[in-house]
Amino acid sequence: MKPTSAPKTYRVKSFGCQMNVYDGERMAELLGERGIAPAPEGEEADLVILNTCHIREKAAEKVYSDIGRLVKAGNKAGKAPMIAVAGCVAQAEGEEIMARAPAVSIVVGPQAYHRLPEMLDKATNGERATDTDMPAIAKFDALPARKKRGPSAFLTVQEGCDKFCTYCVVPYTRGAEISRPFNHLIAEARKLVETGACEITLLGQNVNAWSGEDDKGRPAGLAGLIHALANIDGLERIRYTTSHPNDMDEALIAAHGEVPKLMPYLHLPVQSGSDRVLKAMNRQHTAESYLRLLEQFRAVRPDIALSGDFIVGFPGETEAEFEDTLRIVDQVGYAHAFSFKYSPRPGTPAATMEGQIAPQIMDERLQRLQARIAHHQFAFNKASVGKTCKVLVERTGRNPGQWLGKSPWLQSVWFEGDYAIGDLVEVTLAEAGPNSLMGQVRATLPA
Ligand code: 5AD
Ligand code: SF4
Repeated sequence: MKPTSAPKTYRVKSFGCQMNVYDGERMAELLGERGIAPAPEGEEADLVILNTCHIREKAAEKVYSDIGRLVKAGNKAGKAPMIAVAGCVAQAEGEEIMARAPAVSIVVGPQAYHRLPEMLDKATNGERATDTDMPAIAKFDALPARKKRGPSAFLTVQEGCDKFCTYCVVPYTRGAEISRPFNHLIAEARKLVETGACEITLLGQNVNAWSGEDDKGRPAGLAGLIHALANIDGLERIRYTTSHPNDMDEALIAAHGEVPKLMPYLHLPVQSGSDRVLKAMNRQHTAESYLRLLEQFRAVRPDIALSGDFIVGFPGETEAEFEDTLRIVDQVGYAHAFSFKYSPRPGTPAATMEGQIAPQIMDERLQRLQARIAHHQFAFNKASVGKTCKVLVERTGRNPGQWLGKSPWLQSVWFEGDYAIGDLVEVTLAEAGPNSLMGQVRATLPA
C-alpha cells in the first residue's frame, strides 16, 4: 500500500446488534479526539469503518459487497477511501479479509478498537494493520469520555458469552463473559445524562450475567446496578438487553416491581419451544422453565411487555417441534419478537450436525412464525388502547408537527403538537396499528 494523507473525515457503518451501535459511537468519539470529523451528508468520507456482524451468513457476506462498492465509488471519484473492517467479522475472518480484499487497510476486532489511532497512523504510512487481540476491559479504560448523543443512549455493561449455544458464533467473536466495574458504569451513565440522555439501555450479550461490587464493596448483580442508576437525577428510564433465562435472579425480577424507572419490558430469547431442540442447542433450559420464569415477571409487573428471539430450521427440527415453537409464542403472547432462519456458522457445533433443513422449509416456517408473532404484537398494541403513559420523543414524524417516540413498553407512538426531541410527553394511546400507535397528548412534563 502507498502512504496516503491522514484522513480528515470518517463514516462508521454499523451492522447487527445494539452493541455494534454502541461500539460504532465509541469509535466515532475516538476519531473525534483526533480531529477527524464525520463526513458531511452526501459526501464521500476519507475513512470508512465497516462495523460488521457475524451472527448469520447474510450479515457476514455484506462486508465484501460493501468493500466492492466503496472501491468502485473511490475509483469513480479518483480517490479511494481508507477502509477499516471492525466488529465480529473482523474478529472471525481477519486474515481472510486481508487476503481477499487488498483495499482494506485496517482489520480491528471488537475488543481492540481503542487502538484504532495507532492503526490509522500505520495505515497512513502505507502499512496494513490488524489487531484482533481480546484485552476486553482495557478497551473501556482507553476510550475518551462520552459525547452528546440523543435522548436515548446505550451503555455496554457486560460483554462476551460463556454459554456456547451450538449455533452461535458470539462466544468466539466477543470472547468470554466480562463485566465492567460498577464505578465506571455509574460514571459513564452520569456523563450520558449530563450530555442529554434521559433513557439508558444497558447492553450485554448476557446482560443479566453482569456482576460486580457496589460502591461499598458489596457483591452486586444487575439489579444492584439498576437500583444505583435509578438514583441518578435526570435519568428517567432504564432498560437492559439481552438476557439469558439461566442468569435471571430473584433480585432482578423483584426490581421490575420496585424501580419505577425500570421500564416494563423484557427481551428474553427462548429460540425454540421444543425441549429436544433446546437440548440440541445447548440452551440448558426447557420451554416449561422459561414459561415459569416469565410468570414470575408477570407476578411483579403484570403489564410487562415480553419480547424474544427465535430460530427456525435448526438441524433436525421436525414439523411437530416447529409447532412447539408456535405454541410457546401463543402461550407467551409476545409484544414483540425477532425470528431468524437458522444459519450454519463455521466453527460452531450445529454447522456439522445431521439433518440440516432445506431452505424452502425454513422459508415456510419463518413465514408462519412471523405471522403468529405479528398477530400477538397487534393484539398487544390493541390492548394498550386507552392507557395513559409517557412517550419519549425521539424524532420528527412524516408530516409537519408530527412526533415519534417510544412508550414504556417500547412501542412506537406518534402524535401531534409543539415538542422537541427528548421531551417526555404524556399521551393517551388512542389507536393501534400492527407496528405503532397513535397518541393523544395530555400535557408536556417539565424536563
Ligand atoms: N442462525 C440464526 N440465528 C442465529 N442467532 C444466533 N446465531 C444464529 C444462527 N447461527 C439469533 C439468535 C440470537 C439472535 C441474536 O440471533 O436468535 O438470540
Ligand atoms: Fe449466542 Fe447463546 Fe451466548 Fe446468546 S447465550 S450469545 S445465543 S451462545
